[in-house]
Amino acid sequence: MTQALRLGIAGLGTVGVGVVKIVRQHADLLQARTGRPIEITAVSARDASKDRGVNLSGYAWETDPVALAQRDDIDVYVELMGGENGPAKASVEAALASGKDVVTANKALLAIHGQELAEKAEAAGRVIRFEAAVAGGIPVIKSLTEGLAGNEITRVMGVMNGTCNYILTRMQSQELGYNALFEECAQLGYLEADPNLDVGGIDAAHKLALLSSIAFGTKPNFDGIEIEGIQQISLDDIHQADDMGYRIKLLGVAQKTARGLVQRMQPCLVPSGSALGQLEGGTNMVVIEGDAVEQVVLRGPGAGEGPTASAVMGDVCDLARGLQIPTFGRPATSLQDAAPAITGLPAPYYLRLALFDKPGALAKVAAILGDAGVSIDRMRQYGHSDSTAPVLIVTHKTTRATLDVALDGFRDTDVVSGEPVALRIEEV
Ligand code: NAP
Ligand code: HSE
Repeated sequence: MTQALRLGIAGLGTVGVGVVKIVRQHADLLQARTGRPIEITAVSARDASKDRGVNLSGYAWETDPVALAQRDDIDVYVELMGGENGPAKASVEAALASGKDVVTANKALLAIHGQELAEKAEAAGRVIRFEAAVAGGIPVIKSLTEGLAGNEITRVMGVMNGTCNYILTRMQSQELGYNALFEECAQLGYLEADPNLDVGGIDAAHKLALLSSIAFGTKPNFDGIEIEGIQQISLDDIHQADDMGYRIKLLGVAQKTARGLVQRMQPCLVPSGSALGQLEGGTNMVVIEGDAVEQVVLRGPGAGEGPTASAVMGDVCDLARGLQIPTFGRPATSLQDAAPAITGLPAPYYLRLALFDKPGALAKVAAILGDAGVSIDRMRQYGHSDSTAPVLIVTHKTTRATLDVALDGFRDTDVVSGEPVALRIEEV
């Protein structure tokens, strides 16, 4: 019989258990599709006594993931523990050094150490696969590296954090504030162990760094991403955006421009009727634009046991078939340093300010914008019950750098209370 592909799985949480279930339940299907059996040899997690709802008795248990990665009886090391350093990094390095291919769902690890690990993999003649690290069950890595390989990619964008999209769409549909929905997500177990990874935009930015690298042939450059979270978004912003025909989304955009590589992960206003505007709940969407294909829209579950395990198994099946594609779609040593854009592309902006309700306040704000070179498209003061008056401003197209001059001006004046909210209005 053809030799089995033998897996060592480190991490038996949500994703790891999902992978064990697929290997067990679909053994015949996997063999039929790949031409060889796929088996689990050994597993690792912290607590050997935990009931995980799957039968692990046939697999060797390793307490140390590095020891698991080095076992002679595995071909592929499947890292499903998480964390950008610690055992995840040490065990992936050990696996590559001992001649194993690696499959991981760990976006933080690859966004930070991807270049170094990809070079190690290539030096060892191995590959790292990470479909599950970006947009859960959506086969976006495969689309970019394989299906769209004939295109010059011009832009990649999308909603890549299900928790943030859940919060923002529930704010809209349930008329609940950000804090109430943050609590709801905590109760439902939707938040990462460090919730700032979700609501601070960091988890989604890790994913964007990986897509950007594949799309533009650059080394993953997480530090080059402009990141803003959704913590400042109020129900008022949701209502005002709705009135203007927009929805607020935590949107990631990576785009190669004449000014350099633009990479940002920020809450933006997108047209309500657009595919991105209509994206509800925890679903993810990635939009890829290429010179030949024009536009491809991928939509699907961004997280959870089944969808994420599905993506892991897609990678495992490719390895079983002998498919060896470089980590970021081309040799790691050929990836260029990303040249970050010095100024971003101009766009209209939505601004919300709380003004102290006194004569001349609005005039001062208009003057600060004018002095910075920001032109006002629309301005409106609306109902209020305390000493501050909320003011909504929509600007004509401007760059973020120009707008930042005005935002600094607002902070220095005595008429603006608290931190202004500034959201880009994105053409999608
Ligand atoms: P999880 O439920 O928290 O599970 C983590 C697993 O890793 C647990 O089984 C834990 O052991 C094990 N572990 C942690 N430290 C370990 C160590 N030092 N040695 C051995 N085992 C260790 O996490 P998850 O949600 O499955 O996520 C796993 C990875 O997938 C992460 O990189 C995450 O970002 C990524 N991911 C997750 C999803 C999702 O929907 N959950 C989606 C996309 C990507 P114990 O069980 O014994 O504590
Ligand atoms: N916390 C992530 C999300 C999990 O909400 O999308 C999947 O990476």
